[in-house]
Formats: sequence, structure tokens, C-alpha cells
Amino acid sequence: MARTDNDTWDLATSVGATATMVAAGRARATRDALIDDPFAEPLVRAVGVDFMTRWAAGELSSADVDVPGAPWGMQRMTDMMAARTRYIDAFFAAAGEAGIRQVVILASGLDARAYRLPWPAGTTVFEVDQPEVIAFKQATIAELGATPTADLRAVPIDLRHDWPAALRQAGFDTGRPAAWAAEGLLGFLPAEAQDRLLDQVTELSADGSRLVAEVFWNTGVSGDALNAASGKWRENGLDIALGDLGFPGERNDVATYLADRGWRPARTPLNQLLADTGLPLQPEGPDAPFARNYYCAAVLHKAG
Ligand SMILES: C[S@@+](CC[C@H](N)C(=O)[O-])C[C@H]1O[C@@H](n2cnc3c(N)ncnc32)[C@H](O)[C@@H]1O
Repeated sequence: MARTDNDTWDLATSVGATATMVAAGRARATRDALIDDPFAEPLVRAVGVDFMTRWAAGELSSADVDVPGAPWGMQRMTDMMAARTRYIDAFFAAAGEAGIRQVVILASGLDARAYRLPWPAGTTVFEVDQPEVIAFKQATIAELGATPTADLRAVPIDLRHDWPAALRQAGFDTGRPAAWAAEGLLGFLPAEAQDRLLDQVTELSADGSRLVAEVFWNTGVSGDALNAASGKWRENGLDIALGDLGFPGERNDVATYLADRGWRPARTPLNQLLADTGLPLQPEGPDAPFARNYYCAAVLHKAG
């Protein structure tokens, strides 16, 4: 179903299901000892989408669910989760070493960093996502008996609404630098909403703030190609049309946009992260959705 202006979801539907999917990838990458996210599998299991639970638990193989030779599938998604999780974990560790004690995870989904990373004492982690997503993760992790490793503040709100006000209300201090992550998010925002979000982050950020953003290279990638790559998922009981959830087409380049607003960005291609992790690269080509993705890590230098 096509996206609409004020659409909402839980973790089994629409964009919410992608949070469960990437958590299933982290669960699988944890089984393969590429990362260590002990919360991923129980969280996915609690959502209750059978296909995702079976992938997380190692009960489905790539041969069962992926289209042979396709540029995208559950195994490629899992490889991408392994690479990006390691990269963003390292980004937060470096921010902590630099003395940053405010962290904002935009579109937190089933991200368990607030429970699994060794945050420096005095760190506050803000998690922003839709209310149903936040409520589900909070309740499920509490049932698992886990406690946050930082001062965790939930900010349940749609990122198309006035989230900066909600973030401030939750205690965010615009006078102190922050480390921001937009992982698995920007492609789910329309082009102008992406710009607005980057403007809002810039406005809320004190000098020395850092941002890591996963940048989806949408131009020229057809949603049909993405849907075709997931054709065998439907045969295995997962009815999700990934290609219909994003907003393909021209949009501003994130690193360039940030550079024009005082940030000093560095780009790391997804394929470099995959290579660094010893994993197969994304194939290049018109129907290869993620081959040109990159990760943008930036530091803000405010004038004055
Ligand atoms: C692919 S998941 C990524 C989740 C998490 N960052 C991770 O990597 O595990 C996409 C997430 O973006 C969130 N999201 C997308 N658009 C949003 C919006 N307009 N407002 C709030 N959350 C949004 C979804 O709820 C979902 O949790």
C-alpha cells in the first residue's frame, strides 16, 4: 500500500515491519558472531511475525527465501546490518571518547544500543520513533529484565511532526553537543522531509555535535526491482512490499547538504564497510538498490 502523509504503523506493518526485519538481521549476524546484539532475537520473537522470527532464529536459509542472483535479499540485508551496526557502534564510542554525553537515536525501532553499549557515565540517550514502536520495545525489553546502560529517555512522536519540541521537553540540552544517528531512516522520508530533518538537527546541535546518517541512493532504483528481490519472501508467508515503503526519486545529497550548513562530512560507502567486515559486496547496476548507499559521519563547526 502506498505511503500517506500521516500514516502510522506498529512493528508488524508498513515501515514498522522494516524495523523488525533489520532486527532479525542483527539477530542473525549475532548468531554468526559478527556483532553482539543479544536483544535482537527476543525482540523479533515478541513481534510475532513468523518469517522474521524464523530468520532471526536461523531456521530459514538464504536458499529458502532469497531469489538466486538477486541484488537484495535476507542474507544481503543481514550482511548490511552486520556492517552498519559495527560502524555506528564505533561512531558512538568515538563520540563518547570525545566527551559527548547526549545521544539521539532518530527512528530507533528495535535498536538496543541503549541497553547493550557501555556508555560513559552521565550519558543520556534519547530514542525517537512512532509511539507504538517505542511502547512495544519499552514493554518487551522490560519483560526481558534488561536495564538501560545510560539515562534513557523515550520520545514517542512522528518525525514529520514537531519532534524538536518533544525532544527538548524530554530534556535535550541544545547548549551541549550531541551525537545523532539516522540509521535506516532517510529513505522512508519524502525528499523535503529529509531536508527538514537535517535542518532541525543542525538547529538543535551545539558546536562539536556529530551525526551519522545512512544515505540511501534512491535515484534510478525502481521499487519494482526491490519487490521482485523479495518475491520468495511472500512464498514463505511474509507479505511485505518493500519497494512501496520508500520515496524514490531525486533528493538532495546528504553530505553536500550538511557541508553547506556547517558540518564537515565524511562518506564511507556501504561496500567499503562490507569489505572491511569480510562480507560480499553489493553488486552495481540499475536494479541493485543499495550498491551506492553510503554512511555520512559529520562534525558540526558552528561559526562564531
Ligand atoms: C528500517 S527501520 C530502522 C530502525 C532502527 N534505526 C534500526 O536500524 O534498527 C525504520 C524505522 O524508522 C522509523 N520511522 C520511519 N519514518 C518515521 C517517522 N516519520 N516518524 C518516526 N519514525 C519513523 C520506523 O518506525 C522504524 O522504526
